[in-house]
This record gives sequence, C-alpha cells and structure tokens, in this order.
Amino acid sequence: MPLFKFAISKKDRDSGARLGRLETAHGGVDTPVFMAVGTQGTVKGMTPRQLSDCGVGMVLGNTYHLMLRPGSERIAQLGGLHRFMAWDGPILTDSGGFQVFSLADLTKRDDRGVTFRSHIDGDLIRLDPERSMKVQRDLGSDVVMAFDDCTPYPADHAATRASMALTHRWADHSLNYFQGGHQSLFGIVQGGMYADLRDASVRELCAKPFAGFAVGGLSVGEPKELMYPILRHTAPQLPEDKPRYLMGVGTPADLVNAVSAGIDMFDCVMPTRNARNGYAFTSEGPVSIKQAAHKDSDLPLDPNCDCYTCTRFTRAYLNHIYRAGEILASVLMTLHNLSFYQNLMANMRRAIAADRFPAFKEQILQVYGARDI
Ligand code: GUN
Ligand code: ZN
Repeated sequence: MPLFKFAISKKDRDSGARLGRLETAHGGVDTPVFMAVGTQGTVKGMTPRQLSDCGVGMVLGNTYHLMLRPGSERIAQLGGLHRFMAWDGPILTDSGGFQVFSLADLTKRDDRGVTFRSHIDGDLIRLDPERSMKVQRDLGSDVVMAFDDCTPYPADHAATRASMALTHRWADHSLNYFQGGHQSLFGIVQGGMYADLRDASVRELCAKPFAGFAVGGLSVGEPKELMYPILRHTAPQLPEDKPRYLMGVGTPADLVNAVSAGIDMFDCVMPTRNARNGYAFTSEGPVSIKQAAHKDSDLPLDPNCDCYTCTRFTRAYLNHIYRAGEILASVLMTLHNLSFYQNLMANMRRAIAADRFPAFKEQILQVYGARDI
C-alpha cells in the first residue's frame, strides 16, 4: 500500500518556488513544509497536541539516537514510533550517518559502513545501509532516508569526490535493503561545495528509483556565500515531480532563499534549540528574552503572533521564568518559535499562491537577511 503521493499544484512564475502536497500513510502536509525535529522520539518540551496547536504537521526522528536508546526493536514491539511517541501524523527519519559524524566517536569508515562508539555508553556499534534500513523499518517512519556520508567542511575536491562515491554506493545498498510497504525512500545528494560534484551526484542518484531527493552536506559550517550558490545550482536539477528536501536548514532567511531555489521540505533544530537558549524568532527580528531590557516589558514576545505564548504572557514574565531556570520558559519559547516557523511556511505558501512570493521573500530578508543566529 504505497500511500505516498506528491503533487505540485503551482509553480511560481518569478522564482523556483513550488506549492504542493505530500501524502503519506499517516496523513498529508502542504509544501513547502518545515518538520519539527524530534530526535529522541520527542520534540523537546512539546506534547503532540501542542505540536498540532503550533501548526506542526510532520516530525523528524533519528535512527542514530533511537537505535542506541531505547533500541528500534523495542519500539517495533511497542507498535512503532508513531504509537510510541503518540504522534499520528507523518514522520521522516534520518538515516544515522550524519549523526555518527557529528555526535559519535567514529572509529572506522569503510566501503560498507561505519563503526563508532556510542556517545551514551561507549559501546562499539556498527551502522551501514542494511542496519539503517532495518532500524527505520522498525520505527515505521513514513519517509526513510538513504544511508549517506555527510562530507565535512572544509574538504578538498578529491576527498569530497571519495565521500560522494561512498554515498552513491550506499544509496544502491539502501535501495536493495529497503522493503517498502507504507514507507518511501529518499536519496541524498552530496558533493560538498563543488558544482561539478553536485552535478555528478544529481545525475547518479536521480537515475535511481527514489521517491524524493534530499540535498545533504550543506549548513555544515560553510559561509552562506558558498551554501546559497551551491543550493541554487543543485535544487533546480532535481526531478520536478518529486519532493526536494534540504536537510538541517535553517534560519528564516535560509528558508525563503531555499524555497525560492525550489526546495519543498526542511528540518532544523534552530527554532526548538534557540527557544531553550532564550532566543525567539519574531516578526520584528530576533529577541533575546534574557536581556534586562525585557524585565519590565508588558509587551508580548511578538505583537503579530497569535500563539499561546504571545496571547497570554508578557516579555517580563518570560524574562523572569527564563532567568529562574523554570522549565515553562523552554515550553513557552518553543511554542512560540515553532508557531513562528509554521506561520512563516504558511505565509510562503499563501504568497506563492497569490503570485507575490518575491515580495514576501524580500520582506523576510529585510528582517532576517543580514543576521545569522
Ligand atoms: N542532516 C543535515 N545534513 C545531512 C546530511 O548531509 N545527511 C544526512 N543523512 N542528514 C543530514
Ligand atoms: Zn508567538
């Protein structure tokens, strides 16, 4: 029962932006979509009901974390990740390679996979395309990511080419081990900061029967002056009729720029992580709630936001509970930031529908373009 469908309903005449709908066995979302990051089977601080109230329609989970703890077979026994975390909407799971590279003590990378030490208990663990497909099958996510090698930045041309070749080999292995059912498999384009390698990666991967394609290996520490041109070069080459997913990105400015380049899907820890660190995204720009200037402020976090936080609490209160280290500060800030990101995506979709996307993009860039928090 492949319930996965993707349809584009409109292409912007002035940019690469697309309006579409993604359907899965657990319901659908309008695209461009921003997925909330739920690494450990929870979007930190949020109940599933609160996620829905913020407008979140799709959640990302992680192979790496969930295989280490509590173990994917346990989750399978308990009915799969949707039931385990009580989220019945669409779930995408990342394949683990990127998290190994950023979190684990990587001990060995060979042609077949990676061996690493768990960041939890130091156990020696093997992860390869077969294991990644097995774990993601246990989790029962709707969208499964191929097991890839995220090329670090900086990396020279030869190293990037070798890393990309590994990703291509692992893409074939992932396709071989992937079983389907209600799940769909996405490929991940790599190639670092080199246009010729991105071309080669697109050519190689897009000839394979993936349901969608991700652009990986961006926002790994490179300057925006490198990331944006590579994205604008790569995204339009991906198949028009399949979803395009930019992994691990980004700021509000990144999102409008990437939608303009033709990206349909995003995930990033930024709204949730920044919330817990006291940083809010608002219609007037970023706000650091810990600053003394907010101590006596009777104003909401964002006067133009109708989220639970902004309609009930003052900046003075948020400043107080943040400074007091209260967990409600994380909850209320996260509620707002996720609402801000979901409103941003909804406003982009409305702007594309009404043929005013470029003007909307400029408006966001005026507030967020020069900043990079
Ligand atoms: N998350 C952010 N970037 C990447 C990437 O290149 N590969 C994978 N698997 N996940 C990512
Ligand atoms: Zn708000």
